[in-house]
Amino acid sequence: MEIINWKELLYPYAQTVDELLLKFRSLDKECRQLGIYSPIDSVTGRLKRPASILEKAGRKQISPDRIEEEIEDIAGIRILCQFVEDIPKVIEMVRKRKDMTVIEERDYITNTKPSGYRSYHMLVTTPVFLSDSIIDTKVEIQIRTVAQDFWATLEHKMHYKFEGDGPDYITKELRKCARYVAELDTRMEELNNEIQKYGKLSDKK
Ligand code: GTP
Ligand code: MG
Repeated sequence: MEIINWKELLYPYAQTVDELLLKFRSLDKECRQLGIYSPIDSVTGRLKRPASILEKAGRKQISPDRIEEEIEDIAGIRILCQFVEDIPKVIEMVRKRKDMTVIEERDYITNTKPSGYRSYHMLVTTPVFLSDSIIDTKVEIQIRTVAQDFWATLEHKMHYKFEGDGPDYITKELRKCARYVAELDTRMEELNNEIQKYGKLSDKK
């Protein structure tokens, strides 16, 4: 059994998470300071724990020397938006950046997963400047609304609790809730647009 040097393997990913957190939070801050609408509500990031990496490698039959090639979410960033219409704006922000290269996009907003999961995933690489080298690291960026995230967190909890095999009635209820979330997102967006229009009308008066 090959021994994995976790410190060495994870360090660049930890640095990537820190740097991307700062970069996306800065974009949000810039918009707020300039008084421009920010499509970003909040940004979080996480580094996958060794136990979780090993569990995934085991489940997907990935050998230890292929972990970095095959496990794409060692570094993860999650960007939350208030409204669904903000998501394409964030996607464009990522696509335009010179310090990130998009290698894959998965649109689970349009193509909702059978579970009811909705989110936009972008797999990007970004260079990390270490003391003696520059290496490209992969990061999975998940972009979704606050409401979609609320749902995903509960669904993930169920998945975890029942090891992927949740009771039928809970799975069905969660699917139903996913439809409510989609409906809520649409209504909140419509209301927001109404409020914006009203603001413009009263400006003119
Ligand atoms: P993984 O083996 O989990 O990486 O799946 P994948 O390589 O097929 O990628 P996918 O885009 O389906 O999922 C990547 C990540 O999205 C997962 O690790 C979860 O964080 C999230 N995700 C995907 N599907 C679901 C879902 O049905 N429910 C929840 N709560 N999260 C999901
Ligand atoms: Mg994956």
